[in-house]
Amino acid sequence: MPEQTYKPALKSKLPEIETSIFTVMSKMAAEHNAINLSQGFPDFPVSGELIDRIHYYMKQGYNQYAPTPGMPALVKAIAQKLERCFGFSPQDPAREITLTAGATEALFCVIAALVHKGDEVIVLDPAYDAYVPTIALQGGNSARIPLKQENFRPDWEAIEKAVKPETKLIILNTPHNPTGAILKEEDLKELQKLLQKHEQLWVLSDEVYEHITFDGERHESVLRYPEIRKRAAAVFSFGKTFHATGWKTGYVVAPPSLMKEIRNIHQFVTFAVHTPTQMGLADYLQEPAHYEQLPRFYQQKRDIFARLMEGSRFRPVPSSGTYFQLYSYADISDKPDTEMAGWLTKEYGVAAIPVSVFYESKRDQQLLRFCFAKNEETLKQAAEILCKI
Ligand SMILES: Cc1ncc(COP(=O)(O)O)c(C=O)c1O
Repeated sequence: MPEQTYKPALKSKLPEIETSIFTVMSKMAAEHNAINLSQGFPDFPVSGELIDRIHYYMKQGYNQYAPTPGMPALVKAIAQKLERCFGFSPQDPAREITLTAGATEALFCVIAALVHKGDEVIVLDPAYDAYVPTIALQGGNSARIPLKQENFRPDWEAIEKAVKPETKLIILNTPHNPTGAILKEEDLKELQKLLQKHEQLWVLSDEVYEHITFDGERHESVLRYPEIRKRAAAVFSFGKTFHATGWKTGYVVAPPSLMKEIRNIHQFVTFAVHTPTQMGLADYLQEPAHYEQLPRFYQQKRDIFARLMEGSRFRPVPSSGTYFQLYSYADISDKPDTEMAGWLTKEYGVAAIPVSVFYESKRDQQLLRFCFAKNEETLKQAAEILCKI
């Protein structure tokens, strides 16, 4: 086929980017009427109480632009939540917290604020798909360091070796998508040492699954550690926390100097986020049980899915957090994982995500990622099919 020519000439900024695997698998799931355990979103409802609060504020006339950093009532409620969850009480919440259009916008603004042309960023593989293209858009380079094969935790020795003078940022994600691994206190201690040694380094910590940890494990936010949080931006998502991914409401916490730069960008990306949602969330956060019951809620789902899958030939990879569960299908097939995911969707009607897509090297470990943020009935139906394979 002749190459398509555009007029006027159009030079892509992200020429390597293909349609995201989440879009591909969700589309394939819809076409084959498959149970969609691929994309990470819940199929159970958002709290009626929260919806009522947001509706209330809409009717009260809270329908115009919010201040760029966020509605003061929500900024205050987030500051209280940070104190309660991580023992971190921002000195001046108005200068350290910014509401964003989902965690995605926060990730974009932090990377854009910190990465200049030619800078390098350490990204740990497998990695969530938003980081690398955003770094590339700023003219930065990603140095991708694999997580340890045996437990998907950071290999601090390899990271230390990878730091160069032009390395400006390291991106962490805990609890980790796609593996379900979490950072432990010793990882944060290693991170602290790394920062002490390399004065030019900042940290971007993607903590959107902060409330989904299992078996009594504590979420190790960078914000718990005073020496780290001076040099870190931490990113959170109300979409993930309150089962409302479509609302695209998140926030970033950073020291005032960095936040000033983040806001310079945020004001020209979205300027501000949905006002009535912010007001409703401010009320809803007054009751900590709304987020404190989440680890139990999701652990139950993880365990139900694990029990239902016991009779299958899929082998689970131990998971400590997120609403994803990795399964090895090595006992079933030697197909590459992308092929396996397509085959499962088309032939059996269950969609999952192949893990190789999260690696720069496309490393294939015959692993699939299943999202268990679903009703018990959905999980039952999916497991019943998977057990027959
Ligand atoms: C690790 C990670 N970071 C960020 C996001 C994006 O969050 P949001 O929907 O709030 O933009 C996701 C969503 O899947 C995610 O898994």
